[in-house]
Amino acid sequence: MPAYEDKDQAADSSDKVQAATANGGSAPKHSNPTLAVPGADDEGPIEVPASRSSIAESEHLMHSLSMSPSQVERRSSRNSFGASLPIPRSRRQSRQSRLSSVTLADGRPARPGMPAIQPSREILSSQVQDMSAVKTSAAKDMAFAFDIDGVLVHGDRLIPEGRRALEILNGDNELGIKIPHIFLTNGSGKPEAARCAQLSKILGSPISTEQFIQSHTPMSALAEYYDTVLVVGGEKYQCREVAKQYGFKDIVVPNDIYAWDPTISPLKEFFTAEQRATSNPRDFHKVKIDAILVFSDSRDYATDLQIIMDLLQSENGVLGTRAKDPVSQRIPIYFSQGDLLCPTEHPFPRMSQGTFRIALEAIYKQITGVELERVVYGKPELATYKYADEVMASWMEVIHNDERLPKNIYMIGDNPQSDIIGGNMYGWNTCLVRTGVYQGEGNDKENPASFGVFNNVLEAVQAALRKELGDDFKFNWSDSMNPVTGQYSVSAIE
Ligand code: G3P
Ligand code: MG
Repeated sequence: MPAYEDKDQAADSSDKVQAATANGGSAPKHSNPTLAVPGADDEGPIEVPASRSSIAESEHLMHSLSMSPSQVERRSSRNSFGASLPIPRSRRQSRQSRLSSVTLADGRPARPGMPAIQPSREILSSQVQDMSAVKTSAAKDMAFAFDIDGVLVHGDRLIPEGRRALEILNGDNELGIKIPHIFLTNGSGKPEAARCAQLSKILGSPISTEQFIQSHTPMSALAEYYDTVLVVGGEKYQCREVAKQYGFKDIVVPNDIYAWDPTISPLKEFFTAEQRATSNPRDFHKVKIDAILVFSDSRDYATDLQIIMDLLQSENGVLGTRAKDPVSQRIPIYFSQGDLLCPTEHPFPRMSQGTFRIALEAIYKQITGVELERVVYGKPELATYKYADEVMASWMEVIHNDERLPKNIYMIGDNPQSDIIGGNMYGWNTCLVRTGVYQGEGNDKENPASFGVFNNVLEAVQAALRKELGDDFKFNWSDSMNPVTGQYSVSAIE
């Protein structure tokens, strides 16, 4: 087979490798393995040995904290030490206005200012609870934090056990009691109310915005810091709407910039008449963007990466300028979460926001020679769990008129690298389910779930209820119970 000798090829140390080493990165470990040309023989194509390594150069380009965190390494955050993540002050302070979003189980709006109508079942269950004080108090002292994708749903498809688990927690149990639970998802891209309405329909149980945290929910706190923001990701203009609801005053999305100057993204192929009509172009040479907020998955990597790179290299966020100092004049960038993969309707998990971030970090490092500093919200970040406490205590007031944090909290998740490590580090009991990202045998080695591994969410919920409320706790409410006539039976608690 015709082939070039080793001595014929260009110098092994390519310009790129030298540049990377000069920038403080390390050269790729395998400098020159050759990739065989499939099916090549004496008659076929000539094999020309590669003059550059065929091994990707990503490792030395990647910020060390971009990798999935591992409990074994005692790392619970994707952020650099020293970064701080603002979260909103107690939601309870604005309780009055938020109560209007609470709906009853049958979908009827609450009657503002009027006493609640108590159906007979509620009267009966409150009598049963009065007569089983110890167990009732244990039921109010436990709570669940549910991951959503891979635990309760796959995209828009229900995981059947999820429906039953929520029925039990919403009162279909021997005490007829609501057992506190919140939803803590790295999902994103829609206003909270819209996502809750969609989930309520899929799961057949009411889900209130009062018990719901998406990856970008705590980022509403950033509205106090920045006036003009670039919001990236999500379908259509839904993330613009999210940012509006969070109180950001001046919101720019990549389509606004593209509509102003299409040459900014030469690789973009489609820009529909509708997208043009609904964008808000203006002279962005005169606009100072204060921060970049990646709220959700990019729908157009090429355009979004290009515009973000332009802004990160600009002088204090003005497009068309170039910073003299790439670090001191760089505007901040925030990501709402860091998951690499997300379970969906597709048989294998799909790429998520983490992959977009890693691509950006590598591109930024390669082009500017410096590391990108960025902040990543979402699980397993401490700020997200602290915010979850606020929501949990607040939800306790809504359902039990008792604003406090239950003692025994169970996180149920499918991703050891976000749900489980975060819950473990925060002192919650953690349950890993096999219906999503995690498919392994036994417990996860790096981030083991403290309460165990379960086939699905229903098994996890039932095990936690048995642990806190007794092995014979019944997962059904019976309308035939009548404490007044003595016809009721509630299991004994250990
Ligand atoms: O990683 C993407 C996101 O959809 C994951 O959601 O509910 O599993 O935290 P969740
Ligand atoms: Mg999940």
